[in-house]
Amino acid sequence: MKNLLVVICSIISLSLFSQQRYEPTWESVDSRPIPSWFQDAKFGIFLHWGLYSVPAWGPTDGSIYEKYAEWYWRRMMQPETSTGRKFRDFHDEVYGEKAKYQDFVKGFKAEMFDPELWAKIFKDAGAKYVVLTSKHHEGFALWPSRHSWNWNAYDVGPHRDLAGDLSEAVKNEGLKMGFYFSLYEWFNPLYHEDVDRYVDQHMLPQMKDLVTTYEPDIFWPDGEWDHPSETWRSTEFLAWLYNDSPVRDYVVVNDRWGRETRSVHGDFYTTEYDLVHDQEIIGDVIEHPWEETRGIGGSFGYNRNENLEDYESSEFLIHYLIDKVARGGNLLLNVGPTADGRIPVIQQQRLSDIGRWLEVNGEGIYETRAWENAPAIDQETTVFFTRKGNDLYVISTQWDGRDIEVNGVRSPNSVAMLGYDGRIRYSASRNRLRITPPDVNPANNPSPYAWVYKITGAF
Ligand code: GLC
Repeated sequence: MKNLLVVICSIISLSLFSQQRYEPTWESVDSRPIPSWFQDAKFGIFLHWGLYSVPAWGPTDGSIYEKYAEWYWRRMMQPETSTGRKFRDFHDEVYGEKAKYQDFVKGFKAEMFDPELWAKIFKDAGAKYVVLTSKHHEGFALWPSRHSWNWNAYDVGPHRDLAGDLSEAVKNEGLKMGFYFSLYEWFNPLYHEDVDRYVDQHMLPQMKDLVTTYEPDIFWPDGEWDHPSETWRSTEFLAWLYNDSPVRDYVVVNDRWGRETRSVHGDFYTTEYDLVHDQEIIGDVIEHPWEETRGIGGSFGYNRNENLEDYESSEFLIHYLIDKVARGGNLLLNVGPTADGRIPVIQQQRLSDIGRWLEVNGEGIYETRAWENAPAIDQETTVFFTRKGNDLYVISTQWDGRDIEVNGVRSPNSVAMLGYDGRIRYSASRNRLRITPPDVNPANNPSPYAWVYKITGAF
């Protein structure tokens, strides 16, 4: 009888759940629980690829935003600003004053583009999802968008559905696929003349086209800052996405839906080079799901001007990933492909190092959550924590041979180091655990850069 009741109740709640309809208000769309796969995934690859990959140039100094090579068009049209001047000088000197940004389409051929190879590189990096710029602020679409007639990669340039081909290859590798999409377009006359018509006849149809054609797992808007979310009709789109779209059960979206929405609305919040709107994020662990994004160097679009010293090391990137995950976030690490469709070898090398580290230590990263009792994380922190069920992972980013002390755990069932066969000595007393690092040498060191202790039954 009791069992029958349970069955009936679950059927009712299940049907209620599947019938739940979201209203086009923030209150309603924000009430949808985020599909758990996103917080389990932890590590994704961002791709900025477009006509800006042809000049592939930006300064290597200045503020964070001034280094973005994908802003080439906007910058070269602002020669009166000091950053714009740098772009304009480069442009005039290399391509000539008369050369238009639109001319770059001739150089965007993607002739070396091998989507299966890309997908394999990302999978081997340990990434669980990929986000591609389906359309950046330049307005050039990487899929055959009929709303971007003659300004898309199928009609001109590569003559190929780059977004579709990559989406298929990425999903075939078992990774999730997402699309970045710029709400605004710098030089679209309709956008400037009549934003309502732009939204109605250009932007929203494009967004729905992307979702229904490719069924992405992530929808990642950007370029929202000119207008409030009301102008972009964001909640209307989200209600459609969550109620009626083919991806309603698993899609996740970020927080860039209008001038007022960052860190306020959306399935997950975003930081960029650790900033939200020029502001450093404060606090150690952020409760709401969130994702940090940055390049391996200082730009999202490929920047030929960057040299080795402008690229972060594998050690830095692995420590960065650990830091974000220990604070409850994901890392969306950007890769900038070249106009001919290659992933620059140095970027591949960084990804491969991250992948090798994750192969040994991924257990302490994927599907974990931030440990709510972890000590505050500051710039000097070299011991990080994640948890999964009753297990605690202690991640040490610096090998100094000294004992590691952990407060707030009970006497555990066992302590081990991931990838290391030997025993780990430890002592536990009154909620305090003391771990003694083993004597590792180059022959039995499980991995470089960071070491993960698994504390089984810590809670
Ligand atoms: C930004 C930039 C941009 C980059 C990005 C990634 O706001 O305008 O070029 O695509 O966000 O987070």
